[in-house]
Amino acid sequence: MRAAYASSFDADNPLAALTVGDRPEPAHPQRDWVSVQVRASSLNHHDLWSLRGVGLGPDQLPMILGCDAVGTDPDGNEVVIYPVVPTPGDPRGMSILSEHFPGTFAERVAVPRMNLLPLPTGLAAADAACLPTAWLTAWRMLTTKGRVDDGESVLVQGAGGGVATAAVALGVALGKRVYATSRDAAKRERITELGATALEPGARLPERVDVVIETVGAATFDHSLKSAAPMARIVVSGATAGYEPKVNLRRVFAMQLEILGTSMGTPDELTELLAFCAERDVRPVIDSVVPFSRIEEAFARLASGDVFGKVVVDHTA
Ligand SMILES: NC(=O)c1ccc[n+]([C@@H]2O[C@H](COP(=O)([O-])OP(=O)(O)OC[C@H]3O[C@@H](n4cnc5c(N)ncnc54)[C@H](OP(=O)(O)O)[C@@H]3O)[C@@H](O)[C@H]2O)c1
Repeated sequence: MRAAYASSFDADNPLAALTVGDRPEPAHPQRDWVSVQVRASSLNHHDLWSLRGVGLGPDQLPMILGCDAVGTDPDGNEVVIYPVVPTPGDPRGMSILSEHFPGTFAERVAVPRMNLLPLPTGLAAADAACLPTAWLTAWRMLTTKGRVDDGESVLVQGAGGGVATAAVALGVALGKRVYATSRDAAKRERITELGATALEPGARLPERVDVVIETVGAATFDHSLKSAAPMARIVVSGATAGYEPKVNLRRVFAMQLEILGTSMGTPDELTELLAFCAERDVRPVIDSVVPFSRIEEAFARLASGDVFGKVVVDHTA
């Protein structure tokens, strides 16, 4: 079957490590695994990290990439795939599709049957394909970890990314005052259209916030600390611009801040998110939809850093 996979690693030019070609049908490591015919998938920064050799070893090559997908199960049901798979031997006890098991950028992907969630009525495959990784991460950052119900205001750093645009859209839909930083004037304008107050990185906010959504890391972390209200939660799920920021500990204890790490979310949280989006008419911000036959272009778009929202792949085209 046709698939997009990491055939090598290239830290400087990840696109050079990407191959599109034939791969064997996905194996079923256990009896409860099933193959899903993929209809739509979406890219994450994770896919670029994999091509750079972050989180994958040479012995795992070639590895089909892709964490997110919507498809059709063997019984003909339309399903959303929960991408976290139990993985004995991994120190986390689990892995995300494309780490130990082949990912979703293929005609078919194999997963445990319990990882299949029904596609809610009214949610298009392309929209739902954005939710299982970036949007799930943002949902858990805001709700379970950030306890946003206990607050009124949210700061989202690096507003162009998939997690960040999700956090802005969800924060606004949850009725919060949302501030978002971006280096890019055009992205700041688009963030405003989503209902947030857009700011340049490092700009002083009109108020200190209750929850900070951090995926940028070193470039923005000091601003996150300075913008946090007493008892605020700074929730970290990524560090695109470096993972060793300088942290002013005096501010952490004096303001009684909580710095919380998080990764992905639970199946229940994905079920909640799917229902929230379907019922509240919240739809993912989609940067572009690229046919599976031209998936290299989707990778190039993400690698350009010039995206606003999710890059979706249409596997029916
Ligand atoms: N832990 C998890 O479960 C999980 C899940 C999904 C993603 N992640 C991680 O979260 C991070 C975000 O991923 P993503 O796919 O949403 O988006 P992304 O493509 O990594 O973009 C994130 C944003 O970071 C900002 N940025 C990048 N370099 C910067 C710099 N030097 N200075 C300031 N801002 C900078 C950009 O914002 P502007 O251009 O708007 O300034 C960009 O839009 C990644 O590191 C990813 O690995 C983690």
